[in-house]
Amino acid sequence: MRNFKSMITALFLFSVLSLHSAEIEVLHWWTSGGEAKSVGALKTMLEKSGHKWKDSSIAGGNGVNAMTVLKSRAVAGNPPAAAQIKGPSIQEWAELGFLANLNKVAKANKWDKVLPKRFADHMKYKGKYVAVPVNVHRINWMWVNPAVFKKAGAKIPTTWKEFEVAAKKIKKAGFIPVAAGGQPWQEATVFETIVLGVGGAKFYKKALVDLDMKALKSKTMKKAFDTLRMVKSYTDKNAPGRDWNLATAMVYKGEAAMQFMGDWAKGEFKVAGKKIGVDYLAVDAPQTAGAYLYNIDSFAMFKQKSNAKTKAQNKLAQLVLSDKFQTIFNNRKGSVPVKLGVSKMPFDDIALRSMDALNSAAYTKELLPSMAHQMSVNDAIKGAIVDVVTEFYNSKMSSSKAVKKLASSVKAEM
Ligand code: GAL
Repeated sequence: MRNFKSMITALFLFSVLSLHSAEIEVLHWWTSGGEAKSVGALKTMLEKSGHKWKDSSIAGGNGVNAMTVLKSRAVAGNPPAAAQIKGPSIQEWAELGFLANLNKVAKANKWDKVLPKRFADHMKYKGKYVAVPVNVHRINWMWVNPAVFKKAGAKIPTTWKEFEVAAKKIKKAGFIPVAAGGQPWQEATVFETIVLGVGGAKFYKKALVDLDMKALKSKTMKKAFDTLRMVKSYTDKNAPGRDWNLATAMVYKGEAAMQFMGDWAKGEFKVAGKKIGVDYLAVDAPQTAGAYLYNIDSFAMFKQKSNAKTKAQNKLAQLVLSDKFQTIFNNRKGSVPVKLGVSKMPFDDIALRSMDALNSAAYTKELLPSMAHQMSVNDAIKGAIVDVVTEFYNSKMSSSKAVKKLASSVKAEM
């Protein structure tokens, strides 16, 4: 009798769940070891809530490939239910009428209170939430293998001058000074870090956020290109085409001394079982201490006809901003919670330093949106900047020519 009763209860629960459950397709680009482990937490939580996750992962750092797929699917009238979309692109997609309004779930979960206004604004279109933020990544880190520095007798640099001194020693000792990936977005990541370092926060904002022509054509910008050329001379010949996570691996395997990359690199050190302070260090990229180039990942939901799917999307959005997910995901991913008030306890030293840097940079106005990671300017302008950087990086173009080209290419897209 008891068995019969529990069978009926189970059947009842199953039918209720399946009545309200739905499958949602989630398009993302988190396919490296650390990234896949991180997004796995969201899949598990969604499925525990009774819904189904249809994985649509498109390999390719920075989402370059994922965005191409998303655009063609949207044009064909077949977008996924949820997709990673970032920065000003969120408003562009919303303007085209694709995105669902998340205000109901936002209100119920007090997003306006639990999100810093500046970050919440990235998620809104005409005052309504159309995306949910996942995390905050800091771009301007330098990842270091301390053993390689020791063997080379080099000092960890805090300025670009010191960098050159250290890089020379490292090269002489038979190591690759900088582990570089060879894709346009990676080159642009190094470039924007250098622009911040060489020019400072105010200059970065003028040039890569406000697109001030004077700043784009300035001597300081020329110096940034010179510095990029200098950094490139300390990379290896096999860099072209290399994925970012393979460059990270060169650092933890002791082949290379440094990598300039956002803190998703930490996710790779972690899955490889490496220990902070022993196997690797994260330090501020030269001349960028105190500044914070931010990069926020987010999911936008595409309008659905079925009520059940809309419910599942709302559930996904709610889970993303739960304390539990923010803790598990960000610990794995290398980012920090975007939500205020999440306990700092489970986070490591690098994450705590990122949180501190975030707070102080917000105060000193050195909290800046990343250009290379789609936070500061729209896709067309970002594309124009990245194209110039890549052309410069992979040719013998002079810095003076690069500066002129940068200004004219940006102007053409404005
Ligand atoms: C960034 C993204 C990160 C990261 C990286 C490499 O644009 O925001 O989450 O994973 O690309 O794929």
